[in-house]
Amino acid sequence: MCGIIGVVSANNVSETLFNGLSNLEYRGYDSVGMCFIKNGKLTVRKGVGKLEEVHRKVNFLKLKGSIGLGHCRWSTHGGVTENNAHPHVDCRKRIGVVHNGIIENYSELKEMLIKKGHRFYSQTDTEVIAHLIEDNLKNGKIEDAVRNALKKMEGSYALGILFAGSPGKLIAARNESPLVVGIGDNENFIASDVPSILSRTNKIIYLEDGEMAVLTKNEAKTFDLDGKEKKKKVHEINWNAEAAQKSGYKHFMLKEIYEQPRAIADTLNGRLENNHVVFEEEFGLTDGFLKSIKRIVILACGTSWHAGLIGEFMLEELAKIPAEVEYASEFRYRHALLGKDTLVIAITQSGETADTMAALKEAKKYGVKTLAVCNVIGSSITRISDGVIYTRAGPEIGVASTKAFTTQLAVLYLFTILLAKLRKTLNEKQIKDMINGIRKIPLQLQSVLDEDNEILKCAELYYNKQNSLYLGRGVNFPIALEGALKLKEVSYIHAEGYPAAEMKHGPIALIDKSMPVMFIAPHDIFTYKKVLGNIEEVKARGGIIIAVATAGDTEIPKKAKHTIFIPKTLYTLSSILSVVPLQLLAYHIADRLGRDIDKPRNLAKSVVVE
Ligand code: F6R
Repeated sequence: MCGIIGVVSANNVSETLFNGLSNLEYRGYDSVGMCFIKNGKLTVRKGVGKLEEVHRKVNFLKLKGSIGLGHCRWSTHGGVTENNAHPHVDCRKRIGVVHNGIIENYSELKEMLIKKGHRFYSQTDTEVIAHLIEDNLKNGKIEDAVRNALKKMEGSYALGILFAGSPGKLIAARNESPLVVGIGDNENFIASDVPSILSRTNKIIYLEDGEMAVLTKNEAKTFDLDGKEKKKKVHEINWNAEAAQKSGYKHFMLKEIYEQPRAIADTLNGRLENNHVVFEEEFGLTDGFLKSIKRIVILACGTSWHAGLIGEFMLEELAKIPAEVEYASEFRYRHALLGKDTLVIAITQSGETADTMAALKEAKKYGVKTLAVCNVIGSSITRISDGVIYTRAGPEIGVASTKAFTTQLAVLYLFTILLAKLRKTLNEKQIKDMINGIRKIPLQLQSVLDEDNEILKCAELYYNKQNSLYLGRGVNFPIALEGALKLKEVSYIHAEGYPAAEMKHGPIALIDKSMPVMFIAPHDIFTYKKVLGNIEEVKARGGIIIAVATAGDTEIPKKAKHTIFIPKTLYTLSSILSVVPLQLLAYHIADRLGRDIDKPRNLAKSVVVE
């Protein structure tokens, strides 16, 4: 998991690379490097640590050149050392390579190259690429050398390549790792994602697997691996660069929590017409197929998996379709039984998660129809799915997912309405109530955010606890899981999410006077009374109860030490509101503890390796 960026321009590119890398650091930050070509010579600077730390030592901005590459690393092959940091070079230090992915046959290639006399200085798979290109550089034409090298490589890569012998050319190639080409004014770019180059251009070409691009400052051409030119669509991206910045918030995570009313409003925009749900052209699934579905299997990881659990609940409860949710990492290694009347839904913020991608590919072997619920336009998973519903959360930079989660819930809710209407499992009045319910959510979210001071007080009181429990039932049980995950990942405090009634089968033994227990207990006709009973059980054992309850509830405040209120909504929508106080609680506790909130230790934004 790494981030790459490259620029070829009429001007000096060090600042563009530096700014791009600071936006890409969410992809990896154990080491960082850049290379440039100037006066026919390749210069490399790199080091171990985050961008700012390495910059203090090597001063990236002092480097000059009108063509360059940058890389931020999250190590897979070879430890975190300066030698293993990218860019990597060939024996004669004329070819510079940055890489995101894994070259699976690198050991054999390395052995072959060593026999031919190549000298290696790192333990990485990437260095092999530089030497392999050098080995293929027969006629001095870098494009041919790269193409021939790629044909010998197995595995995943997004590559940026410079050659001192062709000082105005930047070569890029992609296979199973994200890579975009940006078309600028007298300058062109490659990058792992769009936000990292958005301050310079919003004109984007998405490279496909097996494609190569050759960029000069005036043009960007795309080829297949046989050297045949391919004309590609240039997409205009309407995210602005500012959306990818913090806009005055202390952390991206806080900014993104606060963006949720806007993100949900955008996700609904144009999709609710009278009493109908309408998706865009890329939705791709016909009414006939939607009516015929007998089963839905949802594949996802982490927070997206929690959204899947709520989706399962909605689909069964309202559209009456049997649904199940699988961890993508487990699904990919078992031979599930899928019939042609099954719809497989992949839920993924990034659209690049390796396990979700592999699970989806496994599912496709059964000939099933697939749908991606995704936030990143043109990402890998959207491109292999039959249909896509975009979540329109905008770029999510904080490693802990927040607005992507609530927009996933909104999309699953809309999809459920569409199915319920087509399959006539709900009547017109029920559909109308559901549509009215979600229309109110952006404003209601705003009122939950207004509770932030109360949540901050709880964080101040309990930030030094070592453990905590999150309990919920029904549609709010996944919110207990999500609340616990948020706390763990940003504050490093141990937390467990549990179905409230399961507590008495074990976890209740943990409860004493020092244990904070978060109850997610909105008022509903299904489990509310039972949850009140569970709250009593914790109270009797001295646990510190913090509850999320529906506005107007008078019972819960009598039992809980702190109550955070959310507005009244439909049962299936309550989870979109109830998760927000838990996101804020995790954020404030982590902030009080001085954690690196947007880049928690050991975590990366998209897990593009297994
Ligand atoms: C947690 C978090 C992760 C992701 C997971 C899947 O806050 O962000 O658990 O949800 O890695 O990522 P996507 O949704 O990009 O497939």
